[in-house]
Amino acid sequence: MPQTATSPSEDDQLFRLLRQLDQRPDASQRATADALGVSLGTLNTHLRAATEAGYIRVADRNGPDRRQRFTYELTTKGAATKARLTDRFLARKLAEYDALHAELTGTESGLLHLKKRTPLMQSNLAPIPELYVSYDSAQKLKHEAGALPSWDLTQRQVCDLELLMNGGFYPLKGFMTEADYDGVLNNMRLSDGSLWPMPVTLDVSEDFAAKVEPGQDIALRDAEGVILAILSVTDKWVPNKSVEAEKVFGADDIAHPAVNYLHNTAGKVYLGGPVTGIQQPVHYDFKARRDTPNELRAHFRKLGWRKIVAFQTRNPLHRAHQELTFRAAKEAQANLLIHPVVGMTKPGDVDHFTRVRCYEAVLDQYPTSTTHLSLLNLAMRMGGPREALWHAIIRKNHGLTHMIIGRDHAGPGKNSEGKDFYDPYAAQELVRQHQEEIGIEMVDFKQMVYVQEKAQYFPVDEVPEGSTVLDISGTELRRRLREGLEIPEWFSFPEVVQELRRTSPPRAKQGFTVFFTGLSGSGKSTIANALMVKLMEMGGRPTTLLDGDVVRKHLSSELGFSKEHRDINIKRIGYVASEITKNGGIAICAPIAPYTATRRAVREMIEAYGAFVEVHVATSLEECERRDRKGLYKLAREGKIKEFTGISDPYEEPKNPELKVETENVDVDNCAHQVILKLESMGLIRA
Ligand code: PPS
Repeated sequence: MPQTATSPSEDDQLFRLLRQLDQRPDASQRATADALGVSLGTLNTHLRAATEAGYIRVADRNGPDRRQRFTYELTTKGAATKARLTDRFLARKLAEYDALHAELTGTESGLLHLKKRTPLMQSNLAPIPELYVSYDSAQKLKHEAGALPSWDLTQRQVCDLELLMNGGFYPLKGFMTEADYDGVLNNMRLSDGSLWPMPVTLDVSEDFAAKVEPGQDIALRDAEGVILAILSVTDKWVPNKSVEAEKVFGADDIAHPAVNYLHNTAGKVYLGGPVTGIQQPVHYDFKARRDTPNELRAHFRKLGWRKIVAFQTRNPLHRAHQELTFRAAKEAQANLLIHPVVGMTKPGDVDHFTRVRCYEAVLDQYPTSTTHLSLLNLAMRMGGPREALWHAIIRKNHGLTHMIIGRDHAGPGKNSEGKDFYDPYAAQELVRQHQEEIGIEMVDFKQMVYVQEKAQYFPVDEVPEGSTVLDISGTELRRRLREGLEIPEWFSFPEVVQELRRTSPPRAKQGFTVFFTGLSGSGKSTIANALMVKLMEMGGRPTTLLDGDVVRKHLSSELGFSKEHRDINIKRIGYVASEITKNGGIAICAPIAPYTATRRAVREMIEAYGAFVEVHVATSLEECERRDRKGLYKLAREGKIKEFTGISDPYEEPKNPELKVETENVDVDNCAHQVILKLESMGLIRA
């Protein structure tokens, strides 16, 4: 057997050998030879060739066979080759089936002609290839991977890896190579021509990237250090993130959550290459509600469901959604899969724990045995049309035949000019163009609204003329929850409202953070102190002051004033404030916090749990310097303090703070009172 197998029969031999060794690594050579139907001598020739080509290696010199004590195991190259050959094998079998069908019946098989068939177009009931190796191989690889350089995956990367390994991202076989990435950016296609609209890249820090070269294997670990997979690095490159933002999300504007993530969270260098799956990420929550693509396919097979329509969501289900899903299932004459995303959604969304409890409450509203609920551990990018296409491919991989695409699918909200990033129906348009190629049918819907006279929901374009239309937007719903106002029965189910109220009590009972920012000596600490006393006088919630100087003494004593250190300092403050907010307290922070992106990161951390009130203490540099209460400006001017904010270091003024206070000619009491009024107007404290 030559080093690189080319002809089908050589490929076949290699495929069968790799499969056998993967499935029964501890079998004796006699048993392996029997299973493959070859003599021991031929087997040995094949084993030697595969070892030389780097597909397998000797695992054990004390194997069970008396005459031949070696046992073999797959290398990561071998595991990747096995996955590739499996695809090729399946494609050939499909072609053979087509030919047989034609010979026996004189008609076409009804399956698409092989030339037109993309890998995505396989049956929705047959198993989909995964990237996992067998349990035994995984145990061995895991042991060896302990010695490899290892990368601790971010939350988003764990989500991506899970879907790569379980076939949710089929036909991807790993994190994208540079050629695939370029293809995806430029024409939504991988280098082999397969449709794929979203980059799935492994972003790492420059420090880590400096230690890794193409050709090397690295271990991929979860946050607790568990090895989930091995990445055989083939590509390493520094992407142009602005180009990526423009091409994938349509704008290089950090008001878009994924663009913000790209610039401010993702690492600077990308690594690409095939992944060998060792184990699934562990989930402790809602285990019974999570299904891999193959588990879902098996479920549909078992129940005899041939047509299944998917409903993708990142929000709690209300009556409009129920009506929409009913109609979609009826229209497609299909069963229904409620397939909510529980990985990462838009910052500020209702957390998935609450949402899943809401879904479970609504499940009773659907006719029994027509509907299934399954959780999808996807990290959304909020990429509108491209994301909708991506969702359709992912649903196809999960065995779905139809998918609902509504208004503004996966929309990221407004851009920095207050306009929508995407046309609300652009997602439907793009999916329509590609649905045939993907092999999934779109069920498109306009927005659903409630028609009072009919006491029923209708798509907005089917509303009977002259009737009264009622609707409650997401923003309005949040306001009503925040302020403890009524949420009508026509809008949602009492169980859902009760669940939402449990996790989102009225704002006056929630925790929140007041975040003062401004130059040194601007008066942040003084106003913050006055505010704290006023809030304590009112009582009701525990209040903590995280003053700049105090934090630097107790939390960040080892840090200086470089950009990197300031960012660490502010993120620590943000973390503590988010914990206080989560637990129903009031956090008052008063650092300089000179960088917009870092303030935004803190805002996102906190808004997951409660309100974030940014207060810009807008004292001018001249006034701060004139006051120079600590004598620091003088030292900074003399060059005795380096990197001093406003003098030799930047201060990026907040563009849209909740409140801006001027301190010149205004006393402290008055400034603190302005903050109190703002908190009242936001419903955070009662007048
Ligand atoms: S930052 O940028 O938010 O991390 O700064 P912060 O933690 O608020 O710390 C600011 C206080 O540190 C003192 N100090 C300096 N400030 C700015 N630049 C330089 N180089 C510097 N060196 C020391 C200063 O007293 C700041 O206190 P405030 O309360 O802002 O006057």
